[in-house]
Amino acid sequence: MRRGRFESKLAPDAADLNASVAFDRRLLPYDIEGSKAHARMLAAQGILPVADADQICAGLDQVQAEWARGELVLDPQLEDVHMNVEQRLTEIIGDAGARLHTARSRNDQVATDLKLYALDQAGKLGDALRMLERALVEQARAHVDTLCPGYTHLQRAQPVRLAHHLLAYVEMFARDGERLSDAARRAGLSPLGSGALAATTFPIDREMSAKALGFHGVTRNSLDAVGDRDFAVEIVSACALLMAHLSRLGEELVLWATQEFGFVHLPEAYCSGSSIMPQKVNPDVPELVRAKAGRVFGDLVALLTVLKGLPLAYNKDLQETQEPLYDAVETALACTRTMTGLLAGARFDVPRMRRALDEGHLLATEVADYLAARGLPFRQAHAAAGAIVRRATERGVDLAGLSVAEMRDAAGGLALLGDDIVQVLDAGRAVDRRDVIGGPARGRVVEAIAQAEFRLNR
Ligand code: ARG
Repeated sequence: MRRGRFESKLAPDAADLNASVAFDRRLLPYDIEGSKAHARMLAAQGILPVADADQICAGLDQVQAEWARGELVLDPQLEDVHMNVEQRLTEIIGDAGARLHTARSRNDQVATDLKLYALDQAGKLGDALRMLERALVEQARAHVDTLCPGYTHLQRAQPVRLAHHLLAYVEMFARDGERLSDAARRAGLSPLGSGALAATTFPIDREMSAKALGFHGVTRNSLDAVGDRDFAVEIVSACALLMAHLSRLGEELVLWATQEFGFVHLPEAYCSGSSIMPQKVNPDVPELVRAKAGRVFGDLVALLTVLKGLPLAYNKDLQETQEPLYDAVETALACTRTMTGLLAGARFDVPRMRRALDEGHLLATEVADYLAARGLPFRQAHAAAGAIVRRATERGVDLAGLSVAEMRDAAGGLALLGDDIVQVLDAGRAVDRRDVIGGPARGRVVEAIAQAEFRLNR
């Protein structure tokens, strides 16, 4: 590369540190697209001859084709993908190629390319999330009538429907999708035309190139536009939260697949064996997903730390915002897609889940609610139900294993406790009596599934 005022070449170690081709190769298709839009705009404004713009676009198409065929080798000596593309273009078409950089800087160029990449990836991730939600909703549909323990503190708490549990994740992933589209909407302003920092003396039409690239508008301040990587922070932050959600799901699948729980059988295609213990079926995929959350959180911290304290406008520090963005979106995409396949093939052990309801006094709240509904203040009802649980524990039976007389006795001869108490000691009834918005009663869950399906099919 000609180095303007410089006489010497960049020292090899400095060149290595400076070069971004190892990762910004991802920007190549967007760089080509951006350059074509720029060249056409220059011609439309009479800044470049139309013949030059035609040559540029044809030449760029050739560069793209060479790239697709694996023939274009990016030279780290040329620093980044932008210089590589321009150099190859100029080799192919000569002077017209050397005119492409009129009214443009690599600073607005890279901001534009990176936004186009981020928008593309956010769209792909949004699609992948919908597939994941679909897989969860499908399992929910199959398990409307599967009862299982709901947990707090990882202790059996109250019975729920498995569908209700799965739909909790659908809510999380739906919010993740909303965060991504919200970030994408804000990212949809084109920085192209902001120049190095102070725009350009040429009479460019920024709206024209923005429109050609699919942006819905243009940025409003050139200094901000070349130094802004908020869009990367927002998308990586959405990825980080998505990964936190995936890690919770991953953790539950790991736990549920243990012999101790035995609630789920993960599909073989998503498990691996042990090199020494022939009986093992290891849940590597949810384990990795659980761990990769940490990696994406690291990307977010790296990104914020690069931006912190940066003076306006462009600084080479900004080159370091690229890798965390690539890593976060690529990791989130791979994890989302793999978890979709895993979930679609997961088999839940319905009888085992049902049996888990028999131990742990999951219906103790029903007893308290029964008494409170008959007028006993809830605190006293809670204490009475607690005494009944203690008696059952001492006797080594579940609540339903006590006679009504024993229950009454344990609760200090509480006359409010009638023979009909046995009717509330039923897991299915306990779930269906929770018939409020957001609750696990059958009707509510069936409605929630229909709503999720409607939203996903829109
Ligand atoms: N590779 C650079 C980056 O990622 C492109 C912009 C270079 N601009 C500059 N003034 N050196 O940020």
